[in-house]
Amino acid sequence: MPLPTSKPVADSHDDGISPVEQPVKALRNRFFRVLAASTLVITMIYGLQRLSRSGLPNFFRPSCWKGIHGSAPLLPTHFTLPSGDKIPSVALGSWRSGPGEVGRAVQTALKAGYRHIDTAWAYKNEAEIGEALKASNIPRNEVWLTSKLWNTFHAPEDVEPALDESLARLGTDYLDLYLIHWPVAQNKDGTLNKELTENNYPTWQKLEELVAKGKIRNIGVSNFNIRRFEKLTSNSLKIQPAVNQVELNFWNPQPELVKWAKEKGILLEAYSPLGSQNRVKDSLDVPEVKEISQVLGITPAQVLISWQVQRGAVVLPKSVTPSRIVENLLITKIPDRLFNTLEAVATSHKPERSVDPSKKWGVDIFE
Ligand SMILES: NC(=O)c1ccc[n+]([C@@H]2O[C@H](COP(=O)([O-])OP(=O)(O)OC[C@H]3O[C@@H](n4cnc5c(N)ncnc54)[C@H](OP(=O)(O)O)[C@@H]3O)[C@@H](O)[C@H]2O)c1
Repeated sequence: MPLPTSKPVADSHDDGISPVEQPVKALRNRFFRVLAASTLVITMIYGLQRLSRSGLPNFFRPSCWKGIHGSAPLLPTHFTLPSGDKIPSVALGSWRSGPGEVGRAVQTALKAGYRHIDTAWAYKNEAEIGEALKASNIPRNEVWLTSKLWNTFHAPEDVEPALDESLARLGTDYLDLYLIHWPVAQNKDGTLNKELTENNYPTWQKLEELVAKGKIRNIGVSNFNIRRFEKLTSNSLKIQPAVNQVELNFWNPQPELVKWAKEKGILLEAYSPLGSQNRVKDSLDVPEVKEISQVLGITPAQVLISWQVQRGAVVLPKSVTPSRIVENLLITKIPDRLFNTLEAVATSHKPERSVDPSKKWGVDIFE
């Protein structure tokens, strides 16, 4: 009886292939295995992409893969200011984010990855924002905080106390950016201070002092048209305005201001990017916006937000709805052809502002 052997039952000669042909066969088998695996992977990716364009949850949408924290093609996550500070390109807006909801919105935003919050003394929500920031335990220097000087505090002696109030409410000892909210100075009774409205330089000088004191890192303006901006900067400023926060959206795209700002190296911040509360639905229903959203597999709001960053502006969408807060952070580069289509259609109708208190305040703010 033959002894048991540890040798494999079938050896290399059993299939009739000579030892010389053996490596060729192994190589061929490996080639076909790799080919089959690659075909499977490509089919799966193609299938997922097709599915994602027909209504899968956001996570599967290409925007999440290409978004602010994803892979190429990317839009800038930050812009660099003259001070060298890097300002995140998407912020959580907070105008009309009321008590009881703004803190939760900030917490949701920080968890989603926002590191830029836009508020103002006039929004009356700085204290709740400050509490949410504290509760997040995110180090202060990792979150960009912008607030704004209200119209009734333009007199030089009122600027520092107003800033101190914002700082105390926000629970911080400095702001990353402080803006003159409107080029409109009002007296304490709400009447127009014509002199300080036409000449913002005394207010600006006070802001420069507060930068030197370390209470503000960057200063800028908001709602300044080109004339008002150039009038302010015709003074011998120690610090140039780093940004101009203005209304930029489909209904009021301001192409001349965008071009001028680019030429002068002034960063614009796009407020009311979705058309503010009254025109959001109209904005999201624009046929070209919907079409781009379908082609790219992103939402109409993401198209409008991405568009402003691609135009070179920081963008400040406001939401208190958790799913929208997450959605609004995921920006995607719009291919040139589609970007140009959107730019053309937005700039070919009569501009309409969503925010203009000119009549209420008795001054033609935008002239
Ligand atoms: N410097 C200034 O004078 C000035 C003036 C205006 C605004 N701002 C700043 O800019 C920020 C944004 O402007 P804004 O608040 O006027 O308007 P906005 O961001 O254009 O629109 C906000 C509205 O859009 C809704 N929304 C947000 N994301 C959405 C989405 N993905 N899908 C559908 N609806 C969505 C919000 O609803 P929910 O909140 O219910 O989700 C809210 O009603 C302000 O909050 C403020 O920080 C500054």
